[in-house]
Amino acid sequence: MKATFTSSTPFPPIPPCDTISRRLNFLIFPSLLLLLSTAILCYNSFSPWRQDINMVYPNSKPSQTENSTGLGNQCDLFSGDWVPHPEGPYYTNETNCEIDIRQNCMKNGRPDTEFMNWRWKPEQCELPLFDAIQFLELVRGKTMAFVGDSLSRNQLQSLLCLLATAVDSIQASHEPFAKSRVWFYPEYNFTLAFHWSFHLVKSEDADLKLDPPSMNVYLEEVDEYWPPLIENSDFVIISSGQWFLRALMYHDKKGRLIGCYLCKNENITDLGVHYGYRMAFRTSFRAIMNLKKFKGITFLRTFTPSHFEGGMWNEGGKCSRTRPVAKHEMQLGDYFAELHSTQVEELRAAETEGWKLRGLKFRVLEVTEMMRLRPDGHPSKYGRPGGVNVTTLDCAHWCLPGPIDAWNELLLQMLKMELKIRGSR
Ligand SMILES: *[C@@H]1O[C@H](CO)[C@@H](O)[C@H](O)[C@H]1NC(C)=O
Ligand SMILES: *[C@@H]1O[C@H](CO)[C@@H](O)[C@H](O)[C@H]1NC(C)=O
Ligand SMILES: *[C@@H]1O[C@H](CO)[C@@H](O)[C@H](O)[C@H]1NC(C)=O
Ligand SMILES: *[C@@H]1O[C@H](CO)[C@@H](O)[C@H](O)[C@H]1NC(C)=O
Ligand SMILES: *[C@@H]1O[C@H](CO)[C@@H](O)[C@H](O)[C@H]1NC(C)=O
Repeated sequence: MKATFTSSTPFPPIPPCDTISRRLNFLIFPSLLLLLSTAILCYNSFSPWRQDINMVYPNSKPSQTENSTGLGNQCDLFSGDWVPHPEGPYYTNETNCEIDIRQNCMKNGRPDTEFMNWRWKPEQCELPLFDAIQFLELVRGKTMAFVGDSLSRNQLQSLLCLLATAVDSIQASHEPFAKSRVWFYPEYNFTLAFHWSFHLVKSEDADLKLDPPSMNVYLEEVDEYWPPLIENSDFVIISSGQWFLRALMYHDKKGRLIGCYLCKNENITDLGVHYGYRMAFRTSFRAIMNLKKFKGITFLRTFTPSHFEGGMWNEGGKCSRTRPVAKHEMQLGDYFAELHSTQVEELRAAETEGWKLRGLKFRVLEVTEMMRLRPDGHPSKYGRPGGVNVTTLDCAHWCLPGPIDAWNELLLQMLKMELKIRGSR
């Protein structure tokens, strides 16, 4: 695969929030709101008609974790707020673990540290601190695989660092940029793997002369390299996102062009971003269900929005905040809310089908809502050494350490629930 995903080409063009509200804003508060509403996440303080945060998850059902986390009967881990945690993060850039330089914000000179001093607080309960030994005991003798793009690797590296506070791993595949990488924890006979597949389905660069430059995605053909590699995994954390937001040519299972997204060609129907995103998850979940030997639990780690404010990624958009925002302050635009609901719908369908088929479990690791509130957690200009003259900022990946560590705190609680271990630590 030729496409690369570096901090210098962080994201494909993303349409702004919501054209209608943009127009209204434009009419009502010309300059200020035009500026604010070109942010990927819209500011809502000035738009009373969009204050209702229930809009964020129009289609998700109550979480499966509610009753079984050992955290009390009614705790929904995924709705809550960020609260101050002056003790700071679990690890630092000095911890003996791999942090991609593009997310190693402290090493790259990020001057503020407050963004590391918050913890996720579910409304009805406390989220227990991450306990590396407890995690490793739960996964003893097991294999966990992350499948996805660079944000998937971002979570994997957070986990590597959280575990490194307790034990050392052995890296079994030594090429740092290999498509598949494996770590092994000898004392726990635990294998952790990362399989790089940014569309999850088959894709390739399209004709480079196209404007905008585009990729071919074969929405009904899984990216064939990863399913065999997860066949023996006990846990699979699958995710994908930003790579669907660029110009794409959609193909069916016979390889025929059936439409596109953002292709600007009057002879090709633009089927929209959600069409491709839905089909890619449907195909991927089916591929997992079709793995004869697979008995593991699949977690969909939900989409997280980027937080460019004042413009898009290629128009001088920035993410320079230093603390979380309050819930009413930023909204997930309709575009992102629908990406989220689309993937959750497909997960729910797989959940039903996989269970009927042969007792396979599909679960949602819900991070969209919590990360909506963390515009301060991105590398911004500290996505590379020096951090001074960076023109394209990274407002989509997450600094390590940083708010992304909470994803693994949640993952631990979900594992506890799935493995039926109750009670606090
Ligand atoms: C969760 O607990 C509540 C009350 O204890 C109960 O009514 C509900 O059916 C339970 N839900 C599940 C999915 O077990
Ligand atoms: C860690 O970050 C600090 C700045 O916060 C820097 O001085 C130090 O060199 C970094 N160490 C490593 C090993 O990256
Ligand atoms: C390690 O785990 C694997 C399953 O992943 C199992 O087959 C093997 O027997 C285990 N080895 C030891 C020494 O427990
Ligand atoms: C669309 O099709 C027409 C007729 O075949 C052709 O003349 C035109 O160049 C095509 N447009 C594009 C953008 O390919
Ligand atoms: C940053 O850019 C400015 C203006 O373009 C230039 O004068 C300066 O030397 C650059 N600094 C570094 C560290 O590259």
